[in-house]
Amino acid sequence: MKGDEALRRVATALADARAIVVLTGAGMSAASGVPTFRGAGGLWRTFRAEDLATPAAFARDPALVWEWYDWRRQQIAACAPNAGHEVLARWSAARDAMRVITQNVDGLHERAGTRHVRRLHGSIWRLRCVRGCPAGGSREELEVPLAPLPPRCECGAVLRPDVVWFGESLDPAVLDAAVHDAQRADVFLTVGTSSQVYPAAGLVPLAHAAGALVVEINPEPAASADAVDVRLTMGADQALVALDDLLRQNHAR
Ligand code: OAD
Repeated sequence: MKGDEALRRVATALADARAIVVLTGAGMSAASGVPTFRGAGGLWRTFRAEDLATPAAFARDPALVWEWYDWRRQQIAACAPNAGHEVLARWSAARDAMRVITQNVDGLHERAGTRHVRRLHGSIWRLRCVRGCPAGGSREELEVPLAPLPPRCECGAVLRPDVVWFGESLDPAVLDAAVHDAQRADVFLTVGTSSQVYPAAGLVPLAHAAGALVVEINPEPAASADAVDVRLTMGADQALVALDDLLRQNHAR
């Protein structure tokens, strides 16, 4: 299917859909200037996840892990939601049954104003006490840079970024809700993710098996061909803006 034809097919499906569910990954924020993890310029090309994004790495050297997270927080603070985030925010305002499930910890969907965001991998803006004490709870800390590092809870223990590290489980309530969303989607968009990290990547075949039209938006196709109905091989911001334009044109007719 040619690019324009594919865009039109997806726009028609979106116009008819009751439940639109969007799974986003790092490529969603690429146009905002936030680096992805894999592929050209990806963070895991320069840094070793084992040294920075595992519970063992944090136990070994919390200050080192925090320096990396603090650097990323500063980078993200200097970025703004892109036109793709803004399209999703508008759709979420207009449609109650729309859900965004994100693997991103950057908070850009929320900054764009998107409602009902499911954060599978947590938030880089939240901190929580390693002892899980109520005083440290999970709290939002927007200041950058953080000093001194590592930050400490009132109880004296170290605070950690409230993100999911390799080897850790996702919040079961958030994952259950995402599974439920995927199963009831009429249109499921998988946007800017390499589809390599589970359980997030498993939502794509799940939605497909449950009957959704599955659309992948990625300049480099990533999800298994068995689970994708339409591929839009374009940047997330470009594709979402093009779809939004087509939806408005249809609406105006
Ligand atoms: P990846 O870095 O693995 O993949 C990013 C994807 O975005 C790739 O498939 C790119 O082709 C695509 N991409 C690049 N630029 C794009 C653009 N402008 N528009 C659309 N797509 C674009 O990121 P994720 O799949 O999100 O985990 O990675 C999943 C998880 O692995 C992350 O949440 C993180 C990481 O380790 C945790 O932090 C727990």
